[in-house]
Amino acid sequence: MNYVPMKMRIVAITPETSDVKTFRLHFCDEAEGERFTFRAGQFGLYSVFGAGEATFCIASAPTRKGYIECSVKRAGKVTADLHESNEGDIIGFRGPYGNWFPIDAMRGKNLLFIGGGIGLAPLRSLIWNCLDLRDQFANITILYGARSVGDLVYKNELREWRERPDVQTVYTVDPGGEAPGWDGKVGFVPTVLSEMKPAAEGTMVITCGPPIMIKFVLASLTQLGFPMDSVITTLENRMKCGIGKCGRCNVGSKYVCKDGPVFRCSELSQLPQEF
Ligand SMILES: Cc1cc2nc3c(=O)[nH]c(=O)nc-3n(C[C@H](O)[C@H](O)[C@H](O)COP(=O)(O)OP(=O)(O)OC[C@H]3O[C@@H](n4cnc5c(N)ncnc54)[C@H](O)[C@@H]3O)c2cc1C
Ligand code: FES
Repeated sequence: MNYVPMKMRIVAITPETSDVKTFRLHFCDEAEGERFTFRAGQFGLYSVFGAGEATFCIASAPTRKGYIECSVKRAGKVTADLHESNEGDIIGFRGPYGNWFPIDAMRGKNLLFIGGGIGLAPLRSLIWNCLDLRDQFANITILYGARSVGDLVYKNELREWRERPDVQTVYTVDPGGEAPGWDGKVGFVPTVLSEMKPAAEGTMVITCGPPIMIKFVLASLTQLGFPMDSVITTLENRMKCGIGKCGRCNVGSKYVCKDGPVFRCSELSQLPQEF
């Protein structure tokens, strides 16, 4: 088990919103970088020396080699220190940990991605993975919402996806979150989803966002006739070791770090609601 952090150099920092930045990381040891593989949905423990470790998903796609990216929302000590880092700085990374999105089961299906806020980060890894293998999937639809226009992450990529003829996009902001020039929808993600009326037949849904959004998205999907085993989400329970040793992250009998973080919603409905 890879518990020892690898040294990574920050090669690019992209401000996404007032409190989210995306960091592109290169392996300091090139050979380590060449050996490194991961699957969309996996996460890592990132360390800022002297501050500690924090868990972030790998937000870049496994089909884009030579680097990894994470998008970090400022929350406390480690994330604040990371936000103060500069290009060229060295941080630690251990991983990849956890399971991944079941991309093999998605082949040939319609894919509906539903993201809220920084919950787009793990979906972004899978979205680019699927777009890089575009002919293996049927329709791809991305429904993404944030509290306000300023809170939308990956703005350049949202534009790029909107301009592609082989992707349907629906972007929305919460009521009151509009800004001059906003030409997307205004409304909460679950409401917009109900209005879209996507067909359940032959469609897999992959969703990530704030727990309150997920709760109402699942209710909308159920009303639209989606069976919960065709709906996949990824959990963010607090973690310490990341490798199934410390018992920090468990939900009932499941360790989110080892059995997850990716779960079918049919599995989650069998577990205590501790997430
Ligand atoms: C599998 C997984 C993937 C994640 N992916 C991302 C990601 O891609 N980008 C991102 O910005 N964050 C992600 N997170 C959340 C991230 O790990 C925490 O925000 C981070 O560890 C906070 O570290 P800190 O030292 O800055 O804050 P701390 O000082 O540890 O905490 C600051 C505040 O945030 C709260 N907090 C810390 N961790 C969590 C958590 N997991 N859930 C809810 N509240 C929490 C604390 O209670 C406290 O109030 C992920 C978490 C998990 C488990
Ligand atoms: S984080 Fe330690 S057991 Fe999951």
